[in-house]
This record gives sequence, C-alpha cells and structure tokens, in this order.
Amino acid sequence: MKGIILAGGTATRLFPLTATTSKQLLPVYDRQMVFYPLNTLVKGGIKDILMIVAPDHSGQFLNLLGSLLKNHGVSIMFEVQKVPRGLADAFIVGETFIDDDNVTMILGDNIFEDDFGAQIKDFKSGGHIFAKKVSDPERSGVVKFDENGRVLQIVEKPKEWISDYAIPGLYIYDQRVCGAARTVKPSERGEIEITSLHNYYLELGELTVSKCEGEWLDAGTFDSLLEASTIVKQKELRKNFHPIINQAIAEFNEELKNICKKRLL
Ligand code: G1P
Repeated sequence: MKGIILAGGTATRLFPLTATTSKQLLPVYDRQMVFYPLNTLVKGGIKDILMIVAPDHSGQFLNLLGSLLKNHGVSIMFEVQKVPRGLADAFIVGETFIDDDNVTMILGDNIFEDDFGAQIKDFKSGGHIFAKKVSDPERSGVVKFDENGRVLQIVEKPKEWISDYAIPGLYIYDQRVCGAARTVKPSERGEIEITSLHNYYLELGELTVSKCEGEWLDAGTFDSLLEASTIVKQKELRKNFHPIINQAIAEFNEELKNICKKRLL
C-alpha cells in the first residue's frame, strides 16, 4: 500500500493567509495541518508516501518533511502539481509512484479522529471510501444508501438533498485508479472530480464504504481552521499521534534550536 497526501491548490478562501504559505502548512493548534493527514497514513502502516504540492510553496514542504521520517522507516517523496486540475489528478501526477500497488489518498486539509488502520491493512482490491453523517452535505461529495446499507448513488455537492452522508477526503483504491483518472472528463467547475472515480468502482460493483464515527475536520475556511485548533486542543488529539511522528517532530525542533543557538554565537 502506497500513500498520497494531496496538498496542491491555491486555497483562495484563506487569502491572505495563503498568499505567503500553503494552506496545509498553516498551524492547527501546535503543529502544521499536514501532520494530521501524515499521521493517518503512518498509523495505517504506510511506509511509502508521496506529497503532491503546489509549485509556490514546494520548498517549505521539503524543509519540513524532506528528512523528517527517513530515520524512522518512512519515505516521503515529492511531486509538484503545476496546475490544480481536481482531486482525481493526484492519480495522474502520482502514477509512476503508485506503479502496480494499491494506494490510499488523503487530502492535506482533512483531519480525522478515527484510526483507519484496519481498513487500510485489510484492503485487497477495488475502491473503499468513507461516509460521515453531517448537517451540511451539500458542501461535499455525498453517498446515498438503501435500507440494507448498500450504496445507491454518489454525487458531488448535490444541489438537491439525497443523503446526510458526506464522503471525507480519504480514499483507498487499487492500481486501476490511474487508468480510470485519465478517462474522467472535467465537471462544470472545470475539475476532474474524485466522485467520478468512486462511481467507476461503484459501476464495477467493487466499491465498499465504511462509516466514520469520530471527528472529521476540513480546515478550508477561517472558521473551520479555528474550530479545528479548538477541537484538537479540547479532545487532545495530539495523543492520537503515532510515536514516530511525535519523536521525529521533537528531534526536528531540537535540531532547529541548536542551529539557532549556533547562529547567535
Ligand atoms: C472535495 C471533494 C468532495 C469531498 C471533499 C472532502 O471537495 O470534491 O467529494 O467530499 O473534498 O473534503 P472540495 O474540497 O473540492 O470542496
């Protein structure tokens, strides 16, 4: 299983904060947002991770994550996505990296309380997505179930209500996803939508869904960014971090302090 963190895009909703850095490098309480999706992948047992980043802030991602986990058995590679073309583009940009393996993709601004280790480790083939009951499903990709819990329909930001179950930004697919992504036509908003890939597996009868019970935060607006910091602090989500990430951050902080001291001498 390979892992991808998609951290491209320009995040115009967070201007001017994102005029000087990437959204996924903004702080959520005591650490950069990107550590949360990184933690979800590492806790899922993934050791090969590709970060897809926007050109403007690629150096900042490299400074923070380039060497962070290399002594802890986790490799982080980088690809620059020159133009944000939609979430499904991650599987075109990441095709060589994915090679013949399965892949878990997580959005760089999605913060989860749940642990998805079981679903990631047990995945064999097809597509596996998650569903979270929300009060504002029109903001997300949405999945409708029948009374037996079977998937009936998947729609990107439906204008008419179809279900309260949003599809969070964590997706597990087999290698066929790369070929499928190449066939997706841009939507009305000009993006190749991830929901087209869910539908590809749904039509093959190879899509499974599990419910997400814990907090799901998407820190894409000022309010949700503030809320994310508050919830992370209140629920002490830092305790959910894999020990290697906490250790790597502590080592990195120590190294930075030593460099600063040397500069002062
Ligand atoms: C994207 C996806 C949507 C998904 C959401 C999760 O929405 O298109 O299907 O539910 O991420 O965060 P967007 O970030 O483009 O609004």
